Amino acid sequence: MYEWLNALPKAELHLHLEGSLEPELLFRLAERNGVALPWADVDSLRRAYAFNNLQEFLDLYYQGANVLRTEQDFYDLTWAYLEKCKAQNVVHTEPFFDPQTHTDRGIPFEVALGGISAALRDGRERLGISSGLILSFLRHLSEEAAFETLAQALPYRDAFFAVGLDSSEVGHPPSKFRRVFDKARSEGLLTVAHAGEEGPPAYIWEALDLLKVSRIDHGVRAAEDPRLIERLIEEQIPLTVCPLSNIKLCVFDDMRRHNILQLLEQGVKVTVNSDDPAYFGGYVTENFVALHEGLGMTEEQARRLAQNSLDARLA
Ligand code: ADE
Ligand code: ZN
Repeated sequence: MYEWLNALPKAELHLHLEGSLEPELLFRLAERNGVALPWADVDSLRRAYAFNNLQEFLDLYYQGANVLRTEQDFYDLTWAYLEKCKAQNVVHTEPFFDPQTHTDRGIPFEVALGGISAALRDGRERLGISSGLILSFLRHLSEEAAFETLAQALPYRDAFFAVGLDSSEVGHPPSKFRRVFDKARSEGLLTVAHAGEEGPPAYIWEALDLLKVSRIDHGVRAAEDPRLIERLIEEQIPLTVCPLSNIKLCVFDDMRRHNILQLLEQGVKVTVNSDDPAYFGGYVTENFVALHEGLGMTEEQARRLAQNSLDARLA
């Protein structure tokens, strides 16, 4: 089944470039940049990848991103991810990057964006992988900080097609960023947002009604609200679901209890994505395999999930 799922043409719509930083590359960049690490080696870093919730993961993820310093680092990170896409027949990708994770450490916005954009361009030309970049705001930071980030980004308006919202969900509802998203839309950008990963269904309603998102990232907690499910079906709003992530971050305690196939059969436009593959044990194919092994996903269901990902492209 691995080979068959791997060969299926797919799009990836929920991938944090910083979350594709494999421990081996992390150590190589630390050495290249003279950054001291608190882990002795790759194996002890990997052993730290055990999380009880989103915040425990985020603490490590932001620490890992500290090795990214130069344009070349961001290029290498993005290129390594694109090579994975090529190997797994991901023909289109719409990755996120978190500018504030870098600008808050003194790395200029242009350094991160330059390296990422150059790799995405080479990915199109040399690997035949189409792509569009999403600039994601960190929701644990202020509305003012998000406005500043958007202002820094607008001179490079053509380098990305949408804005998103990620980081610590609970306590930071979409409504906090309504005005920033209004401004982004007035500049012709599309919008997406993480909602209903750890946060309640009310955050999904807010993302739809206040941020006017074209897709919901995660969204699995929509299942708790039948009216919301009806709306997602009626409007065919895609959910970018990340099965291995949801298990690693204890959103579901076991893959056998994951609700993605139930949502699929109800008519919700669900897609399969890897979120932060270096931290959660696999890229898109491994997520499909986990659904086959844990939930008995059939070939016909896999085909529909892959087609949904191609249909839910925005770039
Ligand atoms: N940043 C990276 N991965 C994330 C996730 N799963 N949820 C929220 N923010 C994130
Ligand atoms: Zn995510």
